[in-house]
Amino acid sequence: MTPVKIGLLGLGTVGGGTVTVLTRNAAEIARRAGRGIRIVHAAAREYDPAAIAGLDQIDHIGQDAFAVVDDPEVAIVIELIGGYSPARELVLRAIANGKHVVTANKALIAMHGNEIFAAAQERGVMVAFEAAVAGGVPIIKALREGLAGNHIEWVAGIINGTGNFILTEMRDKGRDFADVLAEAQALGYAEADPTFDVEGIDAAHKLTILAAIAFGIPLQFDKTFTEGISRIEAQDVAFAEELGYRIKHLGIARRVSAGIEMRVHPTLIPHRRLIANVDGVMNAVLVKGDAVGPTLYYGAGAGSLPTASAVVADVVDVVRALTTDPNNRVPHLAFQPSELADTPV
Ligand code: HSE
Repeated sequence: MTPVKIGLLGLGTVGGGTVTVLTRNAAEIARRAGRGIRIVHAAAREYDPAAIAGLDQIDHIGQDAFAVVDDPEVAIVIELIGGYSPARELVLRAIANGKHVVTANKALIAMHGNEIFAAAQERGVMVAFEAAVAGGVPIIKALREGLAGNHIEWVAGIINGTGNFILTEMRDKGRDFADVLAEAQALGYAEADPTFDVEGIDAAHKLTILAAIAFGIPLQFDKTFTEGISRIEAQDVAFAEELGYRIKHLGIARRVSAGIEMRVHPTLIPHRRLIANVDGVMNAVLVKGDAVGPTLYYGAGAGSLPTASAVVADVVDVVRALTTDPNNRVPHLAFQPSELADTPV
């Protein structure tokens, strides 16, 4: 079977990681997806070719993102340029052209998701956005698939890696807020506009998405109470420690009598709690379902390869949905018996 052809928008931190994961793990990904996956057309305004492993596997790299979404060869568009515009126009045009879309863009989904999903439904294409929330942590899939049988009571978690990295470094090393933020930017954790990270906007985008999936409500970013960590000082962090607490920035969405309450803000959490010990760029999301009880999802919340892991998982999902290969219906059979390790351990 010929490979599924991908158009890629953006070759920054996540775009570069996605190229690397798709090429480095190509054989395993193809087995799981049921078909090979090939990036045929990418567009980026600027990028560092030396920093991206696997770039030579892309047939064509240009600067015109609209040429990618208009490319008749492309079946799936991966949008990794971020921001509201032109991402919205590009995604809507890709959908209008009958292409499936995978995006890591939480700002886009939180603000324009209702419009994008309606367009996709109308056109009969898929839109997947696992990487938009909590980086490499498969929390959207957990809510949609693993917890599909539950009535969700609440969702709460650390959903901004940059903010958690800053709070951790301030606590452990007494470092200055601005200095740690600059390091988070250098590491590729922070948003293009880092005020989104430190003022809680990025977390509010993600919470909006989580709440929509968990509770089956429309995306309502403007209904989220939003406070960031920019006013937290070194002495606040130190006092909290002395009193047996950690300052953690949480996103919380829960059922209350009036409906669904959504808020992101700093909180004081006792040291002994699991979530108080989620440090650095790691994210953790707790979900309480009526059947399963409390569950916890943990992993890297930002960064090139962790976020790419979620992007590629969505691409695999879309390709699986497109394929009718009966050998791909039972997960184990994604590997042919002859390809399995012959030494059981
Ligand atoms: N700036 C975001 C964060 C990137 O730090 O969590 C991942 O969404």
